[in-house]
Amino acid sequence: MNHDSARYTKTAVIFHWLIAIGIFGMFAIGWYMADLPKEAPKQMAFDLFDLGVYTWRLPEAVSPRSFYFNLHKSIGITLFALIIIRILWRFTHKPPALLSSYKDIERKLAAGAHHLLYLLMIALPFTGLKTAIYSKYGVKWFGMDFIAGVDDKAVRDFYKEAHEVIGIIILIVIGLHILGALKHKFIDKDDTLKRMLLK
Ligand code: HEM
Repeated sequence: MNHDSARYTKTAVIFHWLIAIGIFGMFAIGWYMADLPKEAPKQMAFDLFDLGVYTWRLPEAVSPRSFYFNLHKSIGITLFALIIIRILWRFTHKPPALLSSYKDIERKLAAGAHHLLYLLMIALPFTGLKTAIYSKYGVKWFGMDFIAGVDDKAVRDFYKEAHEVIGIIILIVIGLHILGALKHKFIDKDDTLKRMLLK
């Protein structure tokens, strides 16, 4: 075990896990909603993901596709705001140094993946927001009008494609990031993962 492993602060740990859960949740809604039919009866109550765990009630009837798209956009812009706050906070709060046991190549890979993740965490919701703005529906935030739709199919299709491609890239980088964390936990048996957990 390394004894030089300063931990991340509580704020850093909460930002990290809250945003990680948010991103996985957004993938779940994104994939789920993409398969919903365009024509379907409108309803006023939705059993979330048909799991029988929570029923969301609305003041007016909408189609399942419209409900899940609006949910994706509402949670997405909230998460986008949280990501921006996290990045601004990060500029003024330096993380602890990487463990001294890291090899040079590991330092480069870790720093590269972290920077890339910050970039992708901006690019993914940004392209999603643009997709929504250039559709005819625009963006509502949990039922409240937020940004009106511009309805330009060509621009919308461009951002939709970008949103999907960036989604795949971030999944690959997140996968490598998790593999790195697991390697430190089970092969190197060092404190890397522990530093990113609340005590
Ligand atoms: C980090 C946050 C986000 C993640 C992980 C995410 C993920 C996804 C995924 C997996 C899809 C399905 C793509 C497919 O069809 O394969 C999707 C579609 C979509 N997302 Fe996001 N998204 C995020 C943020 C946002 C935001 C902030 C908005 C808008 C405010 C947004 C708007 C959309 C729209 C409109 C589509 C559907 C495009 C279409 O099929 O017409 N997304 N997203």
